[in-house]
Amino acid sequence: DTQVRKLNYDQIDAEVMKEAGDIIRAGGLVAFPTETVYGLGGDALNPESSKKIYAAKGRPSDNPLIVHIEERADLYKIAARVPEKAEKMMDAFWPGPLTLIFQKTDLVPNETTGGLDTVAVRMPSDGIAAAFIRTAGGFIAAPSANVSGRPSTTTAAHVVEDLSGRIEMILDGGQAVIGLESTIVDMSVEPPVILRPGAITKDMMEAVIGPVEIDKAIIAPNSGIKPKAPGMKYRHYAPRADLTIVEGASDRVVEAMNRMAEEAEASGKKVGIIATDETVSRYPHGIVMSLGARSNEEEIAMHLFEVLRKFDDTDVDCIFSESFEDAAIGAAIMNRLLKAAGHKVVRV
Ligand code: TXA
Ligand code: MG
Repeated sequence: DTQVRKLNYDQIDAEVMKEAGDIIRAGGLVAFPTETVYGLGGDALNPESSKKIYAAKGRPSDNPLIVHIEERADLYKIAARVPEKAEKMMDAFWPGPLTLIFQKTDLVPNETTGGLDTVAVRMPSDGIAAAFIRTAGGFIAAPSANVSGRPSTTTAAHVVEDLSGRIEMILDGGQAVIGLESTIVDMSVEPPVILRPGAITKDMMEAVIGPVEIDKAIIAPNSGIKPKAPGMKYRHYAPRADLTIVEGASDRVVEAMNRMAEEAEASGKKVGIIATDETVSRYPHGIVMSLGARSNEEEIAMHLFEVLRKFDDTDVDCIFSESFEDAAIGAAIMNRLLKAAGHKVVRV
């Protein structure tokens, strides 16, 4: 059975941490909060733990795991070469929602990196995550704590939904404050390449290290170019219902979504609408959920996966969603939303 332990950030219970650490050292699995999304943690240096992670998630084992550390000195034990630009990135953005890819050392088992000779490393800023990583030995392999193909989890309740009975413990730290997975940057190449957009944006990084490229597979998703992050090739976050994103000026989007909803209902379908606080009252058809205020994209990011999950608990057949600006965190929001929609977009 999976134990769920509620923790308080102001006073992290050392007893619970010790139990969690013991589970990890014994080769078991513990889900834990981070500032991005919940992670499904195991001992990154134990190949058996990594195998268990893949099994619990139902994830293909060629999809590498991120190694989470708590102390900068530990990076040099698992990264064979740390370029100057990576040092600058870590100075600027660690601890935080940024994952960096390096050539790996032999300390990291191939099971953890899906057979790659590189390793993805992140130092989360979340206080519970930091305490857990420290107590559990310093190197925690953790993908997002969801069943493969479902939206990442941003609350302990989501983790229970997906992984109860498959892991030993869940550390409950409440709602993840960012709500989207970390930015991933490959620092093993020059210039560095963004493999997954997140809360640390291209502009923020370029201000620190100069030009950074974006993996072409992210920009042109239907081009047949293979993404460099193996996980980005899988259809992610796919809601059970058929999702369509509607792009254009706000009034026209509302009009078009209402028209499409009406047509769908006329053909006997149940409709879902993904709206924003600014527009939510203007949709008379279907089940309507708001992601939050469009004027505050951080709020949209924080609620996106939760809303996709909530629609999975309804019996809607199709969902129409508003879209967002491709600037700042909007790029990460659109990346996840487009994947959820299988890139089905209508421009009005
Ligand atoms: O915010 C996050 O990054 C969360 C929290 C728990 O830290 N973790 C997370 O892990 O999103 P996951 O496994 O769901 O996504 C990791 C992505 C996958 O697309 C994987 O293919 C890619 O990172 N990745 C991992 N190691 C890599 C490597 N060596 N080279 C290229 N891509 C890699
Ligand atoms: Mg994931």
